[in-house]
Amino acid sequence: MISYDLVVHGGTVATPSGIVRTDVGIKDGRIEAVGDLGSATAAEKLSARGLHVLPGVIDSQVHFREPGLTHKEDIGSGSASAAMGGVTTFFEMPNTQPNTTTAEALAWKVRRAKETSWVDFAFYVGASPENADGLGLLEGLEGCAGVKVFLGSSTGTLLVDDPAVLARVLRSGTRRVACHSELESRLKERKELAKTVHDHPVWRDEACAVESTRRLLEAARAAKRPVHVLHVTTAGEIPLLEAARDIATFEVCPQHLTLEAPDCYDRLGTFAQMNPPIREGRHRAALWDAVKRGLVDVLGSDHAPHTREEKAKPYPASPSGMPGVQTLLPLMLNHVHEGRLPLERVVDLTAHGPARIFGLPTKGRIEVGRDADLTLVDLKREHVITAAEQRTRVGWSPFDGMKVTGYPIGTLLRGQFVMREGVLQGKPGGRPVQVGAFVE
Ligand code: DOR
Repeated sequence: MISYDLVVHGGTVATPSGIVRTDVGIKDGRIEAVGDLGSATAAEKLSARGLHVLPGVIDSQVHFREPGLTHKEDIGSGSASAAMGGVTTFFEMPNTQPNTTTAEALAWKVRRAKETSWVDFAFYVGASPENADGLGLLEGLEGCAGVKVFLGSSTGTLLVDDPAVLARVLRSGTRRVACHSELESRLKERKELAKTVHDHPVWRDEACAVESTRRLLEAARAAKRPVHVLHVTTAGEIPLLEAARDIATFEVCPQHLTLEAPDCYDRLGTFAQMNPPIREGRHRAALWDAVKRGLVDVLGSDHAPHTREEKAKPYPASPSGMPGVQTLLPLMLNHVHEGRLPLERVVDLTAHGPARIFGLPTKGRIEVGRDADLTLVDLKREHVITAAEQRTRVGWSPFDGMKVTGYPIGTLLRGQFVMREGVLQGKPGGRPVQVGAFVE
């Protein structure tokens, strides 16, 4: 009879067949059995009584700033923050210095992450006019999450605002292409409207996002290439995306579901500034409606740390972005507590969804054969989010002082605790994940 390395017993487990009271048997870092393991032998048994056992969160949009911007974050600090928040896999963005646009730059990140990451990882390569025809080769390399396109400029220098270059990008390679969708020409035209931070969503307005996404979907159809629209923020994009399920998936961020204008700018000023912006309640309501109707594919944090000093510069010199990898799951559990969505939907958006749309054969589901990446959650735990507990190097959070109900109290990566009761465990042991398999 098989002897497990670890049996997690008595928990309420989010399996693909529903959330049920059952046990999980783990061997060699993988899930070996899901079922009644009351009489099984195991080197270690862990009681999860009173807890929910979720598939580890896959955050498919973070910025960890290494190399080049490590005064804001590095892979070690960003991934520690991930582990603290119940995140077991991250996909990291290419707007570092240098930009991740070559095989060498990608290999550097993968090498560094193998030494310093607390959780598993993959890295996007950034599309540019120079590498547009060679992206197909890059996306097949070890540790590559896929291609990222900035259609409008944000933090850094990556930009593809020429439709002819976008067409080349979409023709090179096969995987889903992740896109930041804001229309560069309109951003340029409206720049002088940006006088105070309250103008941020006026400058980068709904039409900026809607027109960009409309053109992107047309280009994707023409190239027969699937795309993924990152951090969707507007009511106007939802019907476009709903009509494009054949070619496009999309992401929403917890901060766009939790904060709204003008209140966030009144309270937080430039610390609420990000691209695309936090908008007024009408848009937030449309995003929630899209979540409830099953249209949204994944949640990503868009963890984009900048230091307090940088954020405190007078607008518009203040950079856009806020940390969030550690607060993604706590915020969503609190939304579950407040009745905005069921826990099943959070599991779909944070684990099943990313595994499905990016093709992750070893991640995202509590089922036999997958990696034993588990997040132990206490749905009754009351917790006040603080800046001090954030492991991100920048040490602040737009949610500082917010009381949430529901909190991750343990994170297991391939069967080993990396976080337990708010304390990191062991040492960094993250590995590259396989992306791009055709799996359901
Ligand atoms: O607000 C943002 N910050 N949006 C982005 O697209 C980039 C990010 C960053 O890297 O700071």
